[in-house]
Amino acid sequence: MTSRKIILDCDPGHDDAIALILAASKISNLQLEAITTVAGNVEVEKNTLNALKVCDIIGLDDVPLAQGANRPLVKKQEIAEEIHGETGLDGPALPAHPSKQAIDMHAVDLLIEKVLASDNDITLVPTGPLTNIALAMVREPKIIPKIKEIVLMGGGTFGNWTPAAEFNIYVDAEAAKVVFESGVPISMFGLDVTHQAVATDDVVNKLAKIDNEVATFVVELLTFFAKTYKEHFGFDGAPIHDACTIAYLINPSIFQMQRVRVDIETKGEFSYGLTSIDRLGVTGREPNVDFAYGLDKEKFWDLMYDALASYSN
Ligand code: RIB
Ligand code: CA
Repeated sequence: MTSRKIILDCDPGHDDAIALILAASKISNLQLEAITTVAGNVEVEKNTLNALKVCDIIGLDDVPLAQGANRPLVKKQEIAEEIHGETGLDGPALPAHPSKQAIDMHAVDLLIEKVLASDNDITLVPTGPLTNIALAMVREPKIIPKIKEIVLMGGGTFGNWTPAAEFNIYVDAEAAKVVFESGVPISMFGLDVTHQAVATDDVVNKLAKIDNEVATFVVELLTFFAKTYKEHFGFDGAPIHDACTIAYLINPSIFQMQRVRVDIETKGEFSYGLTSIDRLGVTGREPNVDFAYGLDKEKFWDLMYDALASYSN
């Protein structure tokens, strides 16, 4: 497998943590160039602390991690504490202070530095609000033609924060508009596909048989995440939204994709944050997104199982 360079821009967040664990696993062909954090599930400081703790658990000490935007571009910040808990990573017992430290550089500057220095071969993988990505594009437009692809979790033909809008897009729709209109190739993993990636009891019980610390940690994450998803949405398990981006990069054949036009609503009273996904081509507008709509569940969970098993010595 050819290696692929990525920067994970995240707001851990249970499913962000699982995405990072998948990306860093021994079965992954991905090379983590950097990890950046953004205000989203909880405050950016907590998201950063959580990302550092996950890096400690998986022994990822050679990848630079930088903290990013602490609020959306325009709106006031909204967080999803009721889903991810007060820490943003409730459930597992974690040490208060990680050994890994964030670098003394803003995430936006790190994104710009890495992309400018690259051979146009870095894929950005945002799994939270798109604030950092938009800020980097506005601060240094030279990065836009140098970004290989953006593979993001966000949006969908329905919402989970409002009836129209998914959380990552809703938190900062202005940032999403900048990114979706940038011209950078985008692969979008919205709720239509991520709600097919639900860790049911059968899945969790199978993962729980893997005898290593990382697998145990993921099972604890899924147990908490499933509880809040059952309470709030009546789900029979936790949808590991963000992990879909990494699974796609490792094995695209797991997903069914459609080339479509996607535009972002930033004005509507009831539709702010809506991703207008033109699946029937009725707008006649130039398609700008590869939209994931299908998932091979068996392949997806086999990949997750193999990734977690790869953390056994
Ligand atoms: O709507 C799901 C998304 O919002 C996921 O990225 C989850 O981590 C939260 O950020
Ligand atoms: Ca996330």
